[in-house]
Amino acid sequence: MKPAYVGDEYRMHKIFPAVIIVLLVLFSSMASSRDNLLPHNLNLNSALTCRLVGGLTREQRSVCHEAADTAAVAFEGLQLAVKECQHQFRWHRWNCSSLTTKSSNPHASAIMKRGFRESAFLYALTAAGVAHSVARACAQGRLLSCGCDPLGYRAAHDPRGRKRVNKWEWSGCSHNLAYGIDFSKKFLDVREKMDDLQSKINLHNNVAGRSILSSHMEVRCKCHGLSGSCQLRTCWRATPDFRIVASTIKRQYRKALMVAQEELNNGYSVLRGRPRGRRRSRARPAPKTSLLFFEKSPSFCEADPKMDSAGTSSRVCRIGRTSRTGSCDLLCCGRGHALMRKSSIKPCNCTFHWCCRVDCERCHDDKWIAVCK
Ligand SMILES: *[C@@H]1O[C@H](CO)[C@@H](O)[C@H](O)[C@H]1NC(C)=O
Ligand SMILES: *[C@@H]1O[C@H](CO)[C@@H](O)[C@H](O)[C@H]1NC(C)=O
Repeated sequence: MKPAYVGDEYRMHKIFPAVIIVLLVLFSSMASSRDNLLPHNLNLNSALTCRLVGGLTREQRSVCHEAADTAAVAFEGLQLAVKECQHQFRWHRWNCSSLTTKSSNPHASAIMKRGFRESAFLYALTAAGVAHSVARACAQGRLLSCGCDPLGYRAAHDPRGRKRVNKWEWSGCSHNLAYGIDFSKKFLDVREKMDDLQSKINLHNNVAGRSILSSHMEVRCKCHGLSGSCQLRTCWRATPDFRIVASTIKRQYRKALMVAQEELNNGYSVLRGRPRGRRRSRARPAPKTSLLFFEKSPSFCEADPKMDSAGTSSRVCRIGRTSRTGSCDLLCCGRGHALMRKSSIKPCNCTFHWCCRVDCERCHDDKWIAVCK
């Protein structure tokens, strides 16, 4: 093993001075220009992120290294999508909890490798989340490669379609939707390099999520003029609150179309779907915003890591109407539920004393909750 040792020593001698030079150059460039401090740090951290985030494909890693700061914002968009998924599915058997535990990348989860209705929802939501975060970051000046949407919004009408009487102009800083959508395509669509049906469906659902985002863009305006007389209005185009986008995608999830089995076998490239339960109806082209899936979802009643299912035992459920989402009947899969007392201590009967003290009593707060067996 002697030659190897010599080789290592040789390499160390060669590399060590180089490392010191790199560090010196970095340090001096940071010190010489304070303005550069932030972008430098950001790029170093972002480049590290590209390496640390799990489940990226080789193509995604290269996009990440090319545009590390934009990719860092894209990861924020993915986290936003995970958070919204957990909100939208909080009363469902599958509740997106598996997406946070493993890697910070939802695309690494088992469910996104499947063709379930839930997978379709996630593809649309993550594609919209990335576009949303990048579009906003551009307008906030957080990225060097983009700024406000230069075209802004050139409609002659307000969002309700009425003609404006007052003088106004599009001069605000519009969220850069076009840039956000481009990056979402570049960063997520590149995962789907197989020419199979699953990739086509994933791409379709990505497009659906981004179209839903585009169709909910808002116009925001600010009034100018003497004491708010609104003689002049400045307007810009803004991405909606992401909750609105997620709720719309959730509605599409309910009416998602199953891609017919025979088309799966034949591998047709044109995606057609039909609503669930209407077997006789003729297949028709799926609109851009509808979600497509090709695999029947499991019940998600039992724990099964292969399907990202944690099972529903010990989940809190709602007593009452049996058909309601989150009802103990639906959530507990017929196993029944147990009532549990949940006690906590909360501040109560607070009084405010001038000035400035608040005194509270400590109260026991006992609640009965239902938990699936
Ligand atoms: C989601 O399900 C998991 C596993 O069953 C559970 O631990 C978690 O509390 C649930 N989250 C919500 C918000 O109900
Ligand atoms: C709060 O104050 C009210 C009136 O002073 C009293 O009747 C009540 O018992 C107090 N609540 C608790 C939980 O101590």
